[in-house]
Order: sequence, then C-alpha cells, then structure tokens
Amino acid sequence: MVEGKVHIFDTTLRDGEQVPGCKLNTKEKVELALKLEELGVDIIEAGFPVSSPGDFESVNQISRIIKNTIVCGLTRAVQKDIEVAAEALKPAARPRIHTGIGSSDNHIKYKFNSTREKILERAIEAVKLARNFVDDVEFYAEDAGRADLSFLAKLTEEVIKAGATVINIPDTTGFCLPHQYAEKMAYLKNNVPNIDKAILSCHCHNDLGLATANSIAGAIAGARQIECTINGIGERAGNTSLEEVVMTIRKHPELDLYTDIDPKKLLPISRLVSETMRMVVQPNKAVVGDNAFSHSSGIHQDGFLKEASTYEIIAPEEVGADTSKIVLTARSGRSALAYRFKNLGYEFDRNQVDELYNRFLKLADSKKEINDKDLVLLAESIGALA
Ligand code: KIV
Ligand code: ZN
Repeated sequence: MVEGKVHIFDTTLRDGEQVPGCKLNTKEKVELALKLEELGVDIIEAGFPVSSPGDFESVNQISRIIKNTIVCGLTRAVQKDIEVAAEALKPAARPRIHTGIGSSDNHIKYKFNSTREKILERAIEAVKLARNFVDDVEFYAEDAGRADLSFLAKLTEEVIKAGATVINIPDTTGFCLPHQYAEKMAYLKNNVPNIDKAILSCHCHNDLGLATANSIAGAIAGARQIECTINGIGERAGNTSLEEVVMTIRKHPELDLYTDIDPKKLLPISRLVSETMRMVVQPNKAVVGDNAFSHSSGIHQDGFLKEASTYEIIAPEEVGADTSKIVLTARSGRSALAYRFKNLGYEFDRNQVDELYNRFLKLADSKKEINDKDLVLLAESIGALA
C-alpha cells in the first residue's frame, strides 16, 4: 500500500505571484515564507531565480531563513536557469531544483518547434545538470494534461533514470476532468518500471473550476504531492487552492490520506496573503471566504441553530475563523431573528417575536442586510429595552 502522507508543495510565491498586480518584494516574500513554514507546508516554491535579480534575491533570502521546509526554485530546461537557481538555493538546508519542459505535442510543436526525441534529450540533460548541484530534483512535464500518455510514461521513466526524485504532472491549461487526470496518474504508476523511485505530483490549474477535484483525484490514484497556492491564486483562473485540498483530505478519512498542515492557521494565512498581494478573496470561496460560515436563509438558520452539523461540515474554529454568522436578510426566519436579539440582550415572548418579525420583514425588503443598529431600533419601536 502507498503511504498516505500527501506532501503539500506551496507555490504561492511562484505560480501565485505570477498574477498581474500580485508581485511581491523580497521582504514580503520572506515574511510569507516564514508563515508557510509555520503552516506546515512540506515544500515552498520560492520563485524563478533567473527571471529577475529581485526574484533571485528572494529565493536566496528565503533559502537562508527557512530551516526545516524544502525550498524550491523553478527553472526551464536551460543550463543558465539551472545554474542560477543552484546559486540562489546554495544557503538552503533542503534545496530542490524544479526543472522541466513542455510534454504535449501542442507545446512541442508551437512552443519549441521541436520533436519528442529532442525534448526527451533536453529533459534528461536538464535533470542530470540539476543533480550536479542538489540531490532533490523535481521534473515538470508541462501541459501533461494534454500530452500523449505513452510519451509521458517514457519521459517519466527517463528523467527518473537521470535522477529526478519527484515527477510533476501539470494540467497546465486546466483541461482535464477528474477521472482523466486520475487515469494519467494510474497509468504512470502502472506503466513506468522505475516509478517507485519517485513521487508523483499534481499541479492543476483552475480554468474549468476543477483544480481541487483533479488534485484530489490524482492523490486517490497514487500521487503523493499536491502543488497549490493560498486562496487558489495563480495564472488565469488560478491554481489548486491549498485550503481546499487540505480540508477535503481532512473531511474524508476514508481516503487514508493526510497532510501535515495545521488547519487552524488556514484563515489567518489566507487573510495575510490576500492583504499582502492586494487580491480580494471572493466571499463564497470555499473554506476561507467571508460567507463560508454564514447562514442567511430561514430554513438553514433554523436547522443550524438546532444543531450546527445540519448545515456545516467544517466548524469555523477548525480553520481559525471566529464563529459562524447568522445573517439577517428578507429570507431569514423567526428563530434567526430571536437568536440575534438574544445576542444583543433582548428576551421576547412569542407575540413580541411575531410583531417584530413583521416589522423586520418590511425593513429587510428595503435593505440588503439588517444589522445590530437596525435591531435596536426595531426593539425600541415596540418599546423594548435591552
Ligand atoms: O502550470 C505549469 O505547468 C507550471 C509549471 C512551470 C510547473 O506552473
Ligand atoms: Zn502552473
């Protein structure tokens, strides 16, 4: 049986930072890297060192400061990239070079104007060169989501022979369906003779909103690393969201998978990344969105107030959020209204609640949300004092 630990490879500082407007300076990157280490990620992809002197500096500073977590630098299958990444990673206690090249016929033809044979040679050379500098080399087969399976298997076998320790199977364009992505992983597990010498990694983009589902499907099929970002930020529609995969794995013990992430730190780091990168988190975002623990319709509120598990599979404290919220709108019910009045110190009998509820509905139809001030005015309108 494959061991159940799923390594969490955080690429917020690399794939996440590629988002327009989200660029970070070295100080910001170092601060976030320290928080990622506290969160419990296994690998921090700190940047793409050859891309700019600033990113070289960031990877280098992070390498100096991070003591336990693997620090990784991205390269293309290009000699200079690999040499520069090795230099940036020199101070790291546990350095990893992440090198790779396009693997789909689309990329081979249009990006590289090359052939499968030549791409295979470049991949092998890149991994061998990287292994001269570090023991831990991850190879990415870019656009593996659309690559020919037998070529992908050959590429995987050869780069493992050349010394790759992790094989990243990116669904670069977010194209795959979960069962297709899982089949790719299973095929590699069953058809690459030396696959036991490497870890398979999921790297999914969210163009069809399937990044989390695909990553989980990949892990069920045998991958033991998931590449993800805080809040799911990243190129175009983003990457797999770290908080979503971590909580999916936690909520499904039957998968026999686990991560070393401290879930209580998920909300604080989500807020920090959002502020530092100036990138708002959508309110309905799973796990960390503002509405993730809000209940606003009468049916849900009534059930939730009787027993939280009727409408919540995650307790807010589990991910570091304060409490669940009962939001009052024109869709809310009497029990929610009475609950919110009680929190403000009011106790009403049944008749008073009925009267207040009628007044509340009139007001709620004219406003998006009823706040505490509105409630005090409503209570005063029937002569009540807290
Ligand atoms: O999406 C992708 O293919 C990547 C690789 C560079 C790993 O980000
Ligand atoms: Zn990517």
